[in-house]
Amino acid sequence: MEQILITGNGPLCGEVSVAGAKNAALPIIAASLLTTEPLQISNVPGVRDINTSLQLLQLLGCAVERSGTDLTIHSADVHSVHVPYEQVKTMRGSILLLGPLLARFGEADVSLPGGCAIGSRPVNEHIAGLEAMGADIHIEAGYIKAEASRLRGAHFAFDVPSVTATENLIMAAALADGTSVLENCALEPEIGDLARLLRSMGGKIDGAGTSTITIEGVKTLHGAQHRVPPDRIETGTFLVAAAATRGDIRVTDTNPDFLHHVLGKLEQAGARLALGPDWIHLDTGGRRCQAVNIHTAPYPAFPTDMQAQFMALNALAEGTATVVENIFENRFMHVAELQRMGADIELQGHTAIVRGRERLQGAPVMATDLRASASLIIAALAAEGDTTIDRVYHLDRGYDNIDGKLADLGADIRRI
Ligand code: EPU
Repeated sequence: MEQILITGNGPLCGEVSVAGAKNAALPIIAASLLTTEPLQISNVPGVRDINTSLQLLQLLGCAVERSGTDLTIHSADVHSVHVPYEQVKTMRGSILLLGPLLARFGEADVSLPGGCAIGSRPVNEHIAGLEAMGADIHIEAGYIKAEASRLRGAHFAFDVPSVTATENLIMAAALADGTSVLENCALEPEIGDLARLLRSMGGKIDGAGTSTITIEGVKTLHGAQHRVPPDRIETGTFLVAAAATRGDIRVTDTNPDFLHHVLGKLEQAGARLALGPDWIHLDTGGRRCQAVNIHTAPYPAFPTDMQAQFMALNALAEGTATVVENIFENRFMHVAELQRMGADIELQGHTAIVRGRERLQGAPVMATDLRASASLIIAALAAEGDTTIDRVYHLDRGYDNIDGKLADLGADIRRI
């Protein structure tokens, strides 16, 4: 199995361009099921979760053409509404097909995702919302079997603001009969982007990006062209890697607007930042960062998807900080691996107390999930000696050529 070998060799320096956002591209790809006309998507990241979702669409009968970062999906000839466990277990984002399939075809048969390395990942909000829209749903042999001759607009309030549940319900409501009002919606920028796409397909959606979203269902949606926005988590990951290695980098093709809290924490850690409309420059002046306290919470607060990377930064920083994970119950799997590299981290429930060390040592470690892999890479870049990271397929789920990009910034990194 492929591994990544990193030999810690000092600061990352130079310029790096970020890819389109995986978590924005996944709902856009799912939305292609809502129309018989082609959807043209650009800036699609070359990551494994996208490949998985496109394979799934092909299984359902969609025609998929991909050339570099351009993608066309044509869902005129869908012949199946069955989304198998084999794909869903590797990518929980497949649950995003539930709403569009049900809305357009009146039925869906989607595997339950089950748990994963970061927690139990329930889908009760997705199901309750679709039931409120008149769907008849039962669970049979691990599958969500859903039926509704036509979904009806409904008033539904989420108990927990869930990103993919909000996206699923917006897509379902876009083709429902009547008006839906969704309350306590997630505010993540990927939701606003999905609403922009649906509007360009003829959908009537108001309020995306706020906690109350109103959707007036239409009978049909048409094809459209859409560009996937830049990946805010990939952007943050490069910035933290530069901060941890005392480097100086410029991240391009990004959008600083969606990284408010992450940038604030990097400044608090002592990095100097300059921002442009689509770039961010980070300079540490060659200095070691200060440890910073982190509390993850739904957008616009600090993202859980950046928690592991800041854990690595804190492990190398001056001082002690706490990292509190409030979104997922088990998103500390990287801690034991960072400890193998000499990190001083104490776990107390949802809180990690991190006492910074001047140096970490390279060691063989294992990636346990996507963002945990990024945290191990950051630690390895700043560590003394060699680190081999096992199970790098987790990394390839969500980072487009991260090893090539880091090598261009001066890292000694290769696949073995
Ligand atoms: N939740 C429920 N019931 C539900 C759905 C969610 O209780 O039906 C809870 C979850 O257990 C969690 C909280 O709600 O405690 C928030 O989870 P959410 O549903 O928002 O997460 P998600 O939609 O499954 C997306 C991203 C994740 C990211 C989270 C949080 C996609 C495809 N995935 O997941 O991305 O961590 O939002 O921001 O958009 C990643 O990219 O590494 C990743 C895991």
